[in-house]
Amino acid sequence: MLGITMVNIRLLRESDRPDVLEIARHTWDGYDYIPFFFDSWFKDESSHPVGIEFDGHIVALANLRVIDDGQTGWMEALRVHPNHRGKGLAVALTQYVVQVAKNIPVNRVRYTTAIGNATSLHLGETVGMTRKFDLAIHWQDNPAEISWHFSQRPMLEVTANDVYDDLIAAELLPYDTIIYDWKGIDATLDGLKKINSIAQFWVQKHEEETNSFSLGFAREDKSGSQWIFTIYAADTTGFLDHLSHHIHKASELKCTSIFVTYETRYTDVLSSLDWVKIDEDEDWALTLLELVL
Ligand SMILES: CC(C)(COP(=O)(O)OP(=O)(O)OC[C@H]1O[C@@H](n2cnc3c(N)ncnc32)[C@H](O)[C@@H]1OP(=O)(O)O)[C@@H](O)C(=O)NCCC(=O)NCCS
Repeated sequence: MLGITMVNIRLLRESDRPDVLEIARHTWDGYDYIPFFFDSWFKDESSHPVGIEFDGHIVALANLRVIDDGQTGWMEALRVHPNHRGKGLAVALTQYVVQVAKNIPVNRVRYTTAIGNATSLHLGETVGMTRKFDLAIHWQDNPAEISWHFSQRPMLEVTANDVYDDLIAAELLPYDTIIYDWKGIDATLDGLKKINSIAQFWVQKHEEETNSFSLGFAREDKSGSQWIFTIYAADTTGFLDHLSHHIHKASELKCTSIFVTYETRYTDVLSSLDWVKIDEDEDWALTLLELVL
């Protein structure tokens, strides 16, 4: 089945960079984020990057990052070179990564994937993972071209410390987990501080209580920079206020595209906006999978 007589799984090294970049070049039309993260895996003790070597080259890889104060093994960056797909390498790596997580040990493993990525969903199932919740996603180019504006209630920029108690009390987050850029983290004070070190936070309040929250940050990608944001809102007005705010922000920062993650109950609201361009092939939601170890 494997077509590779002995699967040689090992920790990745910085010297594997050319092979890893070659795999990334063949993933998602070259829009893979791995080139922007590879170096950080070797500076960060919580990362455990692994790969499969064949004929002196890395042909498959994955990273396990320990987060949530040691509770969670976050599975990310699973990639197999197109020439080596369909041979069981992703299954072997997924099983291996779960074993690494058990050995550390952590209490659970998690990852997110697009709901249309049937292979990725199947891989999670093979190690016993189940879907916890879905969130909608949408990409769009040229935010500067969007002239739509919506502003009903004031938006306040806040810090992790400002927002922590209110955010949990507001019950806006499924499983008290914040999703940002395909990653998930527990909404503890420490988790919020970590996200706040790369992202800005905004809230809206009603009678002193937080009723909407969003985060946003810019990340370089192949064609410029992308404004990445996530919105959690108790009502449609809050959702639209944050959406408009982030589009304005992306435009102000001259980002070439936006990527929004938001609650599935607002998909009709988003798609009814006249500037929204939805590609039929576009994945419209991501899902978080989990296995308690
Ligand atoms: C997804 C990816 C890692 C799979 O790698 P692979 O080495 O070809 O996968 P494997 O050969 O180990 O097999 C995958 C499993 O999914 C199954 N599978 C394949 N296509 C499937 C589909 N459309 N629906 C359901 N299951 C599918 C296979 O049958 C196999 O399961 P099995 O062992 O129970 O038969 C690879 O295609 C890739 O790198 N894709 C781009 C990046 C990506 O999507 N990463 C994962 C999400 S971040």
